[in-house]
Amino acid sequence: MKRREFLCTLVAVGSVSFAGSARAAGETMVVHKDPNCGCCHAWADAMKKAGFSVQAENVDDLDAVKDRFAVPADMRGCHTAIVAGYYLEGHVPLDAVMRLLAEKPEIAGLAVPGMPAGSLGMGDDPRASYDVLAVGKDGSSKLYQAVRPKA
Ligand code: CU
Ligand code: CU
Repeated sequence: MKRREFLCTLVAVGSVSFAGSARAAGETMVVHKDPNCGCCHAWADAMKKAGFSVQAENVDDLDAVKDRFAVPADMRGCHTAIVAGYYLEGHVPLDAVMRLLAEKPEIAGLAVPGMPAGSLGMGDDPRASYDVLAVGKDGSSKLYQAVRPKA
């Protein structure tokens, strides 16, 4: 069993809540995910609840999908979603997705590498601490949003 699968299996999901009132107004999002991964499912569910028209693509070989969208190796998380021509790699929080769609920067996508505990789909814990990175079309990355414990 690969580490990613192990982590996915380990994490108890269920509580996906939203503070924000931002709605995605039916924008289509394709989520390439592992059918056996609970956290992928929880993240996709959160996007659905936020108003995205989510199309789930269950795939066995997610690395092939990441290769196709040229997601750099060190940026990879679990699932890979595509929205408005951007990729969302891993457990990208909703507010970062909404900001991306509002600002439409010249980048390839956003990434939350690995599977940080407490991120969206990984417990959605207000005490979570992790970085969201903006990945350029040249594969370079820079900090997009620092998610830090709230209060
Ligand atoms: Cu995950
Ligand atoms: Cu996932």
